[in-house]
Amino acid sequence: MDVLVTGAAGFIGAAVAEVLLQRGDRVLGIDNFDPYYSTSLKEARCQRVSVIGADRFELIRQDFADMAGLEQALAGRSFDRIVHLGAQPGVRYSLTHPHAYSRSNLVGHLNILEIARAREVEHLVYASSSSVYGGNAKLPFAVEDRVDHPLSLYAATKKADELMSETYAHLFRLPVTGLRFFTVYGPWGRPDMMVWRFTERVLRDEPIPVYNGGEMMRDFTYIDDIVAGVINCLDAPPADDGTAKAGGSTKPHALYNIGNNRSEPVMKMIGLIEEACGRRAQLDLLPMQPGDVTQTHADITAISRDHGFAPTTPVEIGVPNFVNWYRAFYGI
Ligand SMILES: NC(=O)c1ccc[n+]([C@@H]2O[C@H](COP(=O)([O-])OP(=O)(O)OC[C@H]3O[C@@H](n4cnc5c(N)ncnc54)[C@H](O)[C@@H]3O)[C@@H](O)[C@H]2O)c1
Repeated sequence: MDVLVTGAAGFIGAAVAEVLLQRGDRVLGIDNFDPYYSTSLKEARCQRVSVIGADRFELIRQDFADMAGLEQALAGRSFDRIVHLGAQPGVRYSLTHPHAYSRSNLVGHLNILEIARAREVEHLVYASSSSVYGGNAKLPFAVEDRVDHPLSLYAATKKADELMSETYAHLFRLPVTGLRFFTVYGPWGRPDMMVWRFTERVLRDEPIPVYNGGEMMRDFTYIDDIVAGVINCLDAPPADDGTAKAGGSTKPHALYNIGNNRSEPVMKMIGLIEEACGRRAQLDLLPMQPGDVTQTHADITAISRDHGFAPTTPVEIGVPNFVNWYRAFYGI
């Protein structure tokens, strides 16, 4: 199969590309190497993917929010399916840089839908986020729940992506699957995320910022479990048969949570990081951040039922795996 992977230099995109290549698919990656975080980390991820993929991996350095540039870059290249993981991520950054989100997550998402429509691809799998649940009180979060009250612009753009995708599934019968990721972590992760930031600071003997006095819980999902779920979904496009799909659409549009189905206290994660680093953390206890939510917990009934999704990596294994990778990568 020939797969277009957007955000191929990103944390999840590079990991998905790697597994697609390992099983024999061809991957065309797109990424603009956005400087939101270290571009040398993005280069290193692509280097790793290139070695695995050899001549079955091609990378295009292109901004997908630029439609004319995107069409030109893709001219003469073919693909059967798309995994759209490129986006401007981060909840807190969306309070200060709103236009980065409108550009990559709204215009960019629409452009990828247009490409999928024009090429009549068999399936488009795209990234949404657990942040669409906002401050919902009902836990665990289920795809049937209402998600009309986002707490950040980031969350609002992800909800908008789901709505735009629904329209394309309706009007153009495009088979689409949206995945609401829950706090993904693991080797080759993202430097702006909690597990990375805390590990970095503990190893430097610097204080770690702990919001809401540590009274936070997250459903942390290990990267290998996420990749397995993405690829299982990619392989099984929703049928255009009028039946209700996960998330409630009667169009060929399924929507799933993809999480670990365990909500872990942030203080427990700090303990695991301390253990793996072999030193104590200094805590800088801070108030709740605007835009943040106190707890996430994924109900994964729908994706387990439809795609056999079953996460296998508890945080007790995933956190030391990450810390060991981090120390080896930076030689610390
Ligand atoms: N990592 C998580 O915990 C998490 C949680 C919820 C949702 N998500 C979503 O999953 C997807 C992948 O996340 P990630 O953690 O791999 O993030 P990431 O930032 O590591 O990867 C995204 C990649 O997209 C690229 N990109 C951004 N805008 C682009 C544009 N306009 N044109 C081309 N490339 C562009 C970036 O350079 C980056 O390499 C994103 O949609 C994100 O919002 C991630």
